[in-house]
Amino acid sequence: MEIVLATRNKKKVEEIRRITTDLPVTVLSLDDFPACPVTVEDRDTFEGNAVKKAFEAALYTGKPALADDSGLEVDALGGAPGVYSARYATDAESGNDPKNYIKLLKDLINIPPQERGARFVCCLALAYPDGRTKTFFGYAKGHIGRESRGKKGFGYDPVFYPEGFDRTFAEMTADEKDALSHRGKALEKLAEFLHSFSR
Ligand code: IMP
Repeated sequence: MEIVLATRNKKKVEEIRRITTDLPVTVLSLDDFPACPVTVEDRDTFEGNAVKKAFEAALYTGKPALADDSGLEVDALGGAPGVYSARYATDAESGNDPKNYIKLLKDLINIPPQERGARFVCCLALAYPDGRTKTFFGYAKGHIGRESRGKKGFGYDPVFYPEGFDRTFAEMTADEKDALSHRGKALEKLAEFLHSFSR
């Protein structure tokens, strides 16, 4: 079976190729379909955006397509920034811009340690050209620190402490983060689903 990954992010393509190496699945990327239009991510849930991206790619290519959407939900902010994580600071130029976590630290300045809970969420959506969809969720629970620590990773990693650890995601190796992360957990569920076809 061929699956199109609805992203131009090379890291995500490599990650999915890695987990599907022993499966009868060929992972194509949007580089194989350069004219595929970019989906407008205008839904107010991770699932809504992931399904929209996957379904538009499935319709365009005529093949099953996979897309993801992710972000950070902070308890003390009622779940914000959520689907707006990449542009939480309105002048942030990308989801990697430190302005986002600097704004978060500022917004939480009066919040005590026991109320700084947060979680990363990842939704992976698999869509077929006939309209069928299947979604897989992964979560990473933890809390937001008072200052940034570490230089690895991206986005909010320097301020996020996964539960049970006194290091941020940005102080961990990629393998350590993958084993704990929302994306890693959603990918495990997808791998289990794809494996069930090859048994
Ligand atoms: P996207 O799903 O790749 O568009 O990610 C949305 C935004 O959420 C990113 O731009 C980051 O700001 C944030 N985000 C998602 N996953 C992570 C993560 O693993 N670490 C840090 N920030 C993340």
